Amino acid sequence: MKKIEAIIRPSQLEDLKEALLKIQVNGITITQVMGCGKQLGWKEYYRGSEVILNVLPKVKIEIVIDDSDYEKTIDTIIEFARTGEVGDGKIFVSTIDEVIRIRTGEKGTDALK
Ligand SMILES: Nc1ncnc2c1ncn2[C@@H]1O[C@H](COP(=O)(O)OP(=O)(O)OP(=O)(O)O)[C@@H](O)[C@H]1O
Ligand SMILES: [Mg+2]
Repeated sequence: MKKIEAIIRPSQLEDLKEALLKIQVNGITITQVMGCGKQLGWKEYYRGSEVILNVLPKVKIEIVIDDSDYEKTIDTIIEFARTGEVGDGKIFVSTIDEVIRIRTGEKGTDALK
């Protein structure tokens, strides 16, 4: 199992969420965050204006998936989060040791289904 953490532009959230639901991810956690990439202190556009701030509002999406769903999930995020401009975001991937559904006690991939 893998955890995908994607930091994306807030403007891309609605379309990406819809696309992820279409490929039937089993759960999603969304957090509003602030952050910056390597253009720290450089210009970026936010809601049409040039911003020279260290951090900008971003959205973090966390999805835990079975390995077999990895490629399509990543491809969907890239397709719907990309505008082609700096600041489109990043995807961090890690391995998940265990998942437990609290209600039933199911573990592992059974807890994801
Ligand atoms: N190395 C990192 N560690 C943690 N968070 C990061 C890292 N790089 C980017 N982020 C997060 O991702 C958001 C978007 O980063 P961003 O897309 O600007 O990355 P970048 O490397 O500067 O790429 P680009 O050149 O396309 O702008 C940042 O605001 C930050 O929240
Ligand atoms: Mg950047």
